[in-house]
Amino acid sequence: MEEQLDNIPRHVAIIMDGNGRWAKKRGSIRLSGHKAGAEALLRVLNYCEKYKVQYLSVYAFSTENWSRPKAEVDGLMSLLGNFLRNREEELIEAKCRFRVMGRKEGLSESLQKLISKVEASTKGFERQLIVCLNYGGRAELLDAAKKLAEDAARGDIDPQSLTEEKFGSYLYLPDVPDPDLIIRTSGEFRLSNFLLWEAAYSELYVTPVLWPDFSEEDFLSALKDFAKRTRKFGAITEDTTNK
Ligand code: IPE
Ligand code: IPE
Ligand code: MG
Repeated sequence: MEEQLDNIPRHVAIIMDGNGRWAKKRGSIRLSGHKAGAEALLRVLNYCEKYKVQYLSVYAFSTENWSRPKAEVDGLMSLLGNFLRNREEELIEAKCRFRVMGRKEGLSESLQKLISKVEASTKGFERQLIVCLNYGGRAELLDAAKKLAEDAARGDIDPQSLTEEKFGSYLYLPDVPDPDLIIRTSGEFRLSNFLLWEAAYSELYVTPVLWPDFSEEDFLSALKDFAKRTRKFGAITEDTTNK
């Protein structure tokens, strides 16, 4: 499937949804859907390399997902651990920087150690895989507000001089550009607390395909759709005839 595509997004973020429904359709346990979802993530990481998408962010576990049954949460956490143990070499070979975005301190110590190890061994690379783990958009904004309030109390920052750019520097990964395109699989039209600040001007793409089934063709469809969009950021375009 060789295609020349214009206007490739620099940063694609994906709400990887539908693992449970995929498993249910097969009469299987939810965890088998999550396993197949991890395979889909590896495939999409390769598509990003092929189509030159520099940043891939994926929503893997939200601050709200703790309310799922303990067995499912434990299963998801151990899948993440396996991913880090088994794929570190592959990430290094693919020259891909691995980063976790979210409240890392809420994860188990062993998972935190693994994350730090892989983050350190891939640190120098320009391409990035950002896994949003124990992540919530509101939690991120709240954490930023807390740090900001501490700095203000210390006299390090004058709240009146605060700008959007300065506030952005208090978010989890301030050096990462906002996502150009956010894809949600499995047909749900909502953000579910994903990247609330960063998504302000992202293009949204929803597909009914369940995440474990997400293919190169589906990824290409999203890229092609994105290429056709006119991003206006609140301004007007030169050609206003049909926009
Ligand atoms: C997404 O799949 C993965 C996580 C939220 C961890 P779901 O588990 O939400 O799958 P559905 O929505 O139940 O099909
Ligand atoms: C969003 O999916 C979170 C992740 C993909 C990790 P959910 O399945 O948790 O979202 P809701 O419950 O449908 O909003
Ligand atoms: Mg879901």
